[in-house]
Amino acid sequence: MARLCVALDLEWERAIRIVRDLYDFFETYPLIMKIGHRIYLERGGQAVKELKEEFPYEVFLDLKLHDIPSVVGKAVEMINELGADYTTIHLLGGETMIEEAVRKKGNVKLLGVSILTSHGEEYRDYLKSGFETLKDLVLHLAKTGIDRGVDGIVCSGEEVEFLKKNIDKDFIAVVPGVRIKKDKRQDQRRVLTPAEAVKRGADIIVIGREITESKNPVYVVERALKLIGEI
Ligand code: C5P
Repeated sequence: MARLCVALDLEWERAIRIVRDLYDFFETYPLIMKIGHRIYLERGGQAVKELKEEFPYEVFLDLKLHDIPSVVGKAVEMINELGADYTTIHLLGGETMIEEAVRKKGNVKLLGVSILTSHGEEYRDYLKSGFETLKDLVLHLAKTGIDRGVDGIVCSGEEVEFLKKNIDKDFIAVVPGVRIKKDKRQDQRRVLTPAEAVKRGADIIVIGREITESKNPVYVVERALKLIGEI
């Protein structure tokens, strides 16, 4: 069953209101709430604790860590202690950093960010990576992460099928850049509809602004769940 994750990239007060409005879904559908830098900088780790205490949802603390191995390892350990269910590291951080994060993760599911969905092919040139396509670079990063023990990969909807086909081990595929209405792309270069993303192998689809900037977030969540065939 594919899951829907709501990216709460907005101020805490408004985010909490949306989370409350979505409460009714919980009985039938376990949403995941994602906190990013916006709320983390406003509220700190307390935001994870408050969400976990007050609401029955899983919480994803998305800080996309990328630093020296010991710093990232300690941060992942502390994120696990906060009670987050998912967190992210950048796979571009290198093998030793990934290994240290895996060693310290405890119960939190560690997701590796391959290449952000806001990037296009020109990013491969920027990195001077030597890979012929961005997809090959993403596969290399994803394989490295999974071989080192990450639980899942954050990738675009265009890459998910390719990764599922080319990686033998089971992993959680998390796909942002999903839009019910494709014209609402904002700064995402590569967007898919929820149904397309799920058909291609997404286990968790992430939708942010299309829900949080809507006048009726409950309706948008309902539409997304319908489109992925969950209600
Ligand atoms: O508002 P929107 O639906 O574009 O939100 C997408 C969310 O997914 C944001 O929280 C962003 O941080 C996250 N994300 C992404 N691309 C990745 C990894 C995460 O857009 N590769």
